[in-house]
Amino acid sequence: MKNIFFIFLITISFFKSVFADDEMWLPVILQQLNMSDYQSRGLKLTAEDIYSINNSSLKDAIVLFGGGCTAAVVSEEGLIITNHHCGYSQIQANSTVEKNYLKDGFWAANHNEELQAKGLTVTFLIRIENVTQQVLAGVTSDMNETQRGKKVDEAIKKIETEAIKNTHYIAKVKPFSYGNEYYLFVSEVFKDIRLVGAPPESIGKFGGEDDNWVWPRHNGDFCFFRIYANAENKPAEYSANNVPYKPKKSITISSKGIKKDDFTIVLGYPGRTSEYLTSYGIEMLSKYEDPSKTKIRELRLSIMDEYMKTSEKVYLRYASRYAGVANGWKKWLGENNGIKKYDVIGTKKQLEQRFIQWANENKNRKKTYGNLLNEFETTYKKLTPLNQAYNYYSEIITAIEIFKYVSGFSNLITKSYDKSISKEEINKITEQYKTDAKKFFANYNKSYDKKMFEALIKLYYEGPDKSVRPEVLEDINIKFNCNFKTYTEYVFENSFLTSEEKVLKFLNKYNHSKASKVLNDPLFSLSAKLNDNYYENILPSLQELNVKIDSLQRIYFRGLCEMQPEKKLYPDANLTMRVNFGKVDDYYPYDAVHYLYFTTLDGVMEKEDTSKKGFSVPEKLKILYKNKDYGKYGVNGIMPVCFIASNHTAGGNSGSPVLNGEGRLIGLNFDRSWEGTMSDVMYDSRICRNVVVDARYILFIIDKFAGANNLLNEMKITEN
Ligand code: ARG
Ligand code: GLU
Repeated sequence: MKNIFFIFLITISFFKSVFADDEMWLPVILQQLNMSDYQSRGLKLTAEDIYSINNSSLKDAIVLFGGGCTAAVVSEEGLIITNHHCGYSQIQANSTVEKNYLKDGFWAANHNEELQAKGLTVTFLIRIENVTQQVLAGVTSDMNETQRGKKVDEAIKKIETEAIKNTHYIAKVKPFSYGNEYYLFVSEVFKDIRLVGAPPESIGKFGGEDDNWVWPRHNGDFCFFRIYANAENKPAEYSANNVPYKPKKSITISSKGIKKDDFTIVLGYPGRTSEYLTSYGIEMLSKYEDPSKTKIRELRLSIMDEYMKTSEKVYLRYASRYAGVANGWKKWLGENNGIKKYDVIGTKKQLEQRFIQWANENKNRKKTYGNLLNEFETTYKKLTPLNQAYNYYSEIITAIEIFKYVSGFSNLITKSYDKSISKEEINKITEQYKTDAKKFFANYNKSYDKKMFEALIKLYYEGPDKSVRPEVLEDINIKFNCNFKTYTEYVFENSFLTSEEKVLKFLNKYNHSKASKVLNDPLFSLSAKLNDNYYENILPSLQELNVKIDSLQRIYFRGLCEMQPEKKLYPDANLTMRVNFGKVDDYYPYDAVHYLYFTTLDGVMEKEDTSKKGFSVPEKLKILYKNKDYGKYGVNGIMPVCFIASNHTAGGNSGSPVLNGEGRLIGLNFDRSWEGTMSDVMYDSRICRNVVVDARYILFIIDKFAGANNLLNEMKITEN
């Protein structure tokens, strides 16, 4: 029976592809597609130019930057370009109040001035291989999900081990389309990465959170890093002896500029899309998940906002975290607007009706697919409250700083009750706890965290469905009559874990018998009960139901392919390299409103507002504007800044190079338009646009604003 998978594979391969903007292909698939459709739209490259394992190809110049952004190699000396917001935490980590690179920007004049980006990695893709047959070789149709999972995991482990024998590479096999296909990715990870250049926030994050996810945009969202390697050009830990990496391929930058309908290619690492969700899945997302998460984050942001205003030091410490929290909040808000406005549920329901009709047309299909959507419905019914419990737990537990700190004490407690652990060992552990305490309290602001605690615990009590409210919160109702202020006062007053002095005193005199003091601490006990509730009452069923949904989606995807043999359905994004084709395009977001496809420096000046965070313009940029001193990058006295295109991108595509038909870099992807943020669940070519900073603006800032000639000399720049 195992061959049903193989037959399916053959049927979905070798289709003629009819150009559609929503596709996101694995580069290795391009060989199987009929590229002439893309070529007739402006693609001048062959599949081999984009992905080749024998020759250097574009894929060798695209890297995964850290764990969730993309970057492009732009010089023979390992220079990479990515978004300012992708390098943000590294710029922050290298900044102090005296040397504030977020505020003032940073430009290394030579290699010696480049700053170590601790913890940052850059990953190159060596090769991709379709390993579906090997992975599914032991799977038969009579297996249940657990048996299937076991077989699949065993096969994957074997493939991964074999693939990198005697190399320094890493290997990962990932499922595609819910396990209908599997691909192997062999990669090389570099660990010595250094910060090379970044504009000030007033350029790199112009428009701040107000403009985030919004078009029209005026943001110079770019910065540069460099990859360092050992003398053999191989990855190595940071060392002063390392040298700039010599890449297999680097991308040429084009200052030619863009016009409407120009062909665009985005190559990068989109993290996650869910294009094949059913109406039931969308309903859970739009009625429960998005609204709960946005509500929690809104509250969290308002409290952070207030605290960050207190000093530059605090601002610096929280800037990157704030940007991350705000980014998710706004994205989910936009996504939900789009789901409603473009009736995503209705559209999915229509498709499901067609599917049911098609499934009932013959006996075999009816057997495989006839009951599928009913099963989705009943599974989502069970999943929805648990999913809600998960969202509340994960959003709240991470927002309250003291929770993370106190939960660290579990290790000490467990070890203290373990008779096999010696006194000496316990002493060693407590020494470590003392160091951790000093580190934690150096940056801990009790009154800020207390505010966060009170607001979020209240929401945790009031927000989710009663059936999944953690029992420990009921106690607050019983003992404190839902007065969260009094409860917060009580917890913070009576816990010794909120004071460095008390914690150190406790640790100084610690022995096995003192463990109960931690267990009885009101903060520790609350945190432990919330964790236990999640791990014992929520997570197991949640996992089980998610596995069930996955298995249903696997069958549904296969059915959708069978139902529409003329189409080749692309697999959802899963943080693997994808190529997306599109074109420079305007759009009509609202009745009577037309958005042009590009913005200019005039718009930066229009938006200038020193009373609003994110809308100050650096003096030097104003002078350049006044004198129209744009060098060769301006067009008839106008300086282009950003543009939009119809490429289907997702979170992770930040920092992806946007290339023209010849494969030259015409811009850097950094965002999506507000009206189209629902593209993760349904791409709609009428309103979904990716937002790109124009290569000409990047060059202008490097040249005229920063005077970083070293970078200009290093990159290959062409006017074509
Ligand atoms: N929305 C963009 C992305 O999803 C940019 C985020 C960073 N910018 C910000 N203002 N928070 O990642
Ligand atoms: N800003 C996003 C990121 O960090 C890219 C935009 C998107 O989500 O499409 O990856």
